[in-house]
Amino acid sequence: LITIRELYRNKEQYIGKKITVGGWVRSNRDSKTFGFIVLNDGTFFETLQIVYGDKLSNFAEIAKINVGSALIIEGELVATPEAKQPFEIQATDIQVEGNSPSEYPLQKKRHTLEYLRSISHLRPRTNTFQAVFRVRSLIAYAIHKFFQERDFVYVHTPIITGSDAEGAGEMFQVTTLDLNNVPLTEDGKVDYAEDFFGKPTNLTVSGQLNGETYAMAFRNIYTFGPTFRAENSNTTRHAAEFWMIEPEIAFADLKDDMVLAENMIKYIIRYVLENAPEEMNFFNSFIDKGLLERLEHVANSEFGHVTYTEAIDILVKNNDKFDYKVSWGCDLQTEHERYLTEEVFKKPVFVTDYPKDIKAFYMKLNEDNKTVAAMDLLVPGIGEIIGGSQREDDYDKLVQRMEELGLDKEDYDFYLDLRKFGSTRHAGFGLGFERCVMYLTGMGNIRDVIPFPRTVNNCEL
Ligand code: 4AD
Ligand code: MG
Repeated sequence: LITIRELYRNKEQYIGKKITVGGWVRSNRDSKTFGFIVLNDGTFFETLQIVYGDKLSNFAEIAKINVGSALIIEGELVATPEAKQPFEIQATDIQVEGNSPSEYPLQKKRHTLEYLRSISHLRPRTNTFQAVFRVRSLIAYAIHKFFQERDFVYVHTPIITGSDAEGAGEMFQVTTLDLNNVPLTEDGKVDYAEDFFGKPTNLTVSGQLNGETYAMAFRNIYTFGPTFRAENSNTTRHAAEFWMIEPEIAFADLKDDMVLAENMIKYIIRYVLENAPEEMNFFNSFIDKGLLERLEHVANSEFGHVTYTEAIDILVKNNDKFDYKVSWGCDLQTEHERYLTEEVFKKPVFVTDYPKDIKAFYMKLNEDNKTVAAMDLLVPGIGEIIGGSQREDDYDKLVQRMEELGLDKEDYDFYLDLRKFGSTRHAGFGLGFERCVMYLTGMGNIRDVIPFPRTVNNCEL
């Protein structure tokens, strides 16, 4: 079978030749003696028109074939210079691989994204989701390419872990204990000695701590894997299962970290614009007008920089615009993040040096003893897509911070070892993969950029 992508790529080679294609019917209209099928084979964003006539032995069957049916078609590829599409197939043989009844849930009319979410196993057959999931795949490839070209080592960090890297307590517990008959210790607590690992475990909220151990061996590493958070936030930007990319760089500080993040984002944008022009044009026309112009601009200009303290000064002056009023020390909500990046800077902006009390234990304490060397990258339309920091590399300061926060030192022995044995300054960040896909496609809901979304009260398929 020849793919539609290949026909577009090398059309001179196939015009006038007999070829065979396979795909699914997008539409079929017939008159008495001939008909037209629009075929999509998933390999390219364009469809292929098939012309068939009553010379086909099964003409009557084909004339009635429904949207969604799978066909194998043999015929001659003919140039159609006057038509919208450059060529069509004049069919000499059409085999029905699998018919589809007329109640096929995807018809030619446009369906809402909400409706398509209810049929997540069929939605990849629509234009929108063909575009989203091909671009998602390309972004993943571009990210690997970016890091591999710079000699970063890809580290596979574990999915089941015993730690809460972010300290936010938003973990999904993993257990083989029978919840209807939990074994108890003498003092009435759950007896984890009976559990599979002999202790409480959970799905990872971040690969960072494990990643750091490899950065202290390879210098530059990255992770790229599934991440789980039992955050009870029902928003368009939060999923319980999402993918995260976490580079970690040794002999590097917060500035180096931001340079890496900015270069990575620009690289991905350029890669996708170059390698998925049809899909990106589709998003620009039907999902988010102005997307292409905006991305081109982002790829070719400097990101903004502002400290948390400066950002708070700006936000406090505009508190009347917010549901949640800000003051120094509070965490930024999405409304504040979006205000900064959409109204003040009008481009991606790094916010740096947050108060230590609203950030994770591992971030490097600044000289002021109040803030840490943290950075969040905020982008218009979404808010935070990257969170990162320089890490506390001083053993004593890290222990002190862990004690302040009541963390159990024994759980973090391996992590403290890194500060004992050849410690060096190092930094890293986490890019939320789905938020990155949203940013590059203009899609407004995280549920529409992950094939089978998991969110509060929703784990279908
Ligand atoms: O800011 P976060 O929590 O940072 C970390 O996990 C660090 N360990 C990263 C590091 O320094 N190695 O998460 C990083 C990013 C966020 O900026 C956001 O894009 C994404 O992960 N993210 C989510 N995406 C979708 N759904 C959720 N529930 C998310 N939580 C975080
Ligand atoms: Mg964050």
